[in-house]
Amino acid sequence: MRILYYIFILFITAFHVGYAQQKAMLHLTSDFIDTQLLAASQQIMLLAEHTPADKFPRTFENGAYKFSSSSWWCSGFYPGTLLYLYEGTGEKKLLRLGLNKLVPLNKEQHNRGTHDLGFMLFCSFGNAWRLSKDSIQYRDVLLTGAESLATRFNPTTKTIRSWDHQPWQYPVIIDNMMNLEFLMELSKISGDNRFRDIAIAHANTTLKNHFRKDFSSYHVLDYDARTGDVIAKKTHQGAFDESAWARGQAWALYGYTMMFRETADQQYLVQANHIAKFILTHPALPSDLIPYWDFDKDKIPSDAKTYANRNLRDVSAAALNASALLELSQYVDANTAESYLQSAETILRNLSAAPYLAPQGSNGGFILKHSVGSIPGNSEVDVPLTYADYYYVEALIRYQRLLQGKPIIASIN
Ligand code: GLY
Repeated sequence: MRILYYIFILFITAFHVGYAQQKAMLHLTSDFIDTQLLAASQQIMLLAEHTPADKFPRTFENGAYKFSSSSWWCSGFYPGTLLYLYEGTGEKKLLRLGLNKLVPLNKEQHNRGTHDLGFMLFCSFGNAWRLSKDSIQYRDVLLTGAESLATRFNPTTKTIRSWDHQPWQYPVIIDNMMNLEFLMELSKISGDNRFRDIAIAHANTTLKNHFRKDFSSYHVLDYDARTGDVIAKKTHQGAFDESAWARGQAWALYGYTMMFRETADQQYLVQANHIAKFILTHPALPSDLIPYWDFDKDKIPSDAKTYANRNLRDVSAAALNASALLELSQYVDANTAESYLQSAETILRNLSAAPYLAPQGSNGGFILKHSVGSIPGNSEVDVPLTYADYYYVEALIRYQRLLQGKPIIASIN
C-alpha cells in the first residue's frame, strides 16, 4: 500500500506542475517564511512560560489565559504547533516542550466520548512520531486512539458520530472530516483496512448529504441511527441553519483535499475544487481573503437571531484555507495551481501583519489575533485561538517545503 501511495504522490506532483514551474509561481521568499517562523517561535515561548504542566492553551481573552484539560478537542494543537515550529527552525527547545506536552495528553488515547481524536492525537503524537527518533511509544498511542475513534462509527448511518449530547439524535458535523486523516494514516501504519474503510464511508456519506447545490456545507446533520436517514440539517456555530459558516467551509476544503491525497479518488478532488471556488469567489469574501465568521452574516432571516458583533473576521478559517489551498495546488493543472498558490500567499501575507499578527510579547504569546470560536454560543469571540496558530504555522511549513522542493506533505515514517 505504502509503495502505491508514493507512486501516487510522485505521479501527481510530477504530472501536474514540475518543480521549476512551481518555483516560478512562488512569490513568498525563504527569508519571509523563516522570519515568520522565527517570530512565531519567540512568541510561543511566552505562551510556554505561562502554560501549567498539565494544561493546554485555548485562548487569551481580556488579558487572561484560558487553559483546558487534555479532554478538550483542542488539546493537540499546542504541542503540534511547537513541533511544527521545531521542524521549521531546528530549535531543540521547541521539540522538548512539544514532547513534554504529550505526557498529560497520553490518556486521551482511551477517550471514546469524542470524534476529535484526530485533532487531539494526530496533530500532536502524529507530528511527534514524524519528527522524533524515539517513535515506537507514539505509534502505540496512535493505534489505541484510532481504535477508540473507530468505536464511534455506525454502519447504518455510515458515519462517525460527532457529539453525544442532546438535543441531537446522531449528530455529524462537517468538522469531522478533519479526523479522517488520523484513520487513513493509521490504516497505512497498522495495515488495518478497517480504519480506512470507516474514513472513506464517512467521507462518502458526508459528500452525499452535507452539501448544498452551491457546494457550501451545512454545519450539523442529525441522523436517525436506526435507519440512517437524515432527520435535520442545522447549524451550531453558524449564523443560521442555511448559512455558510466560514470555518465549516474551511474544514470541508481541507478534509476533501486530504481525502484525495489519501485515496486518489477523483470525486474528492472535484469536491475540493468546488469548495475552493465557493470560498474564493464568494462576494462576501473580503479582498484580504480573511473571511467573516459566516459568509451569510448579512442575510440573517428576520425570524432568526441577529448578532450585534456579526461583522467579525475569523482568522482560524483563513489559516485553514491557506494550508488547504497550498496542498490542493499540488493536485491541479498549472493555471489552477497558480491561482490557489496566489490566494494562499495573500492569506499568509495578511496573517503575517497587523491587524492579524500579534506584536511580539503581546496576546499572551498566541501568534494570531481575531478568531471566532462561536458567535451564537458567545464563546471565544474575536480572540486568539490555538487552532488558528496551528494551521497558520502548518501553512508556513508547507510553504517552506515547497520552496525547498520537497513534497508538501511530509511522510510520517
Ligand atoms: N470543531 C469545532 C470548531 O470548529 O469550532
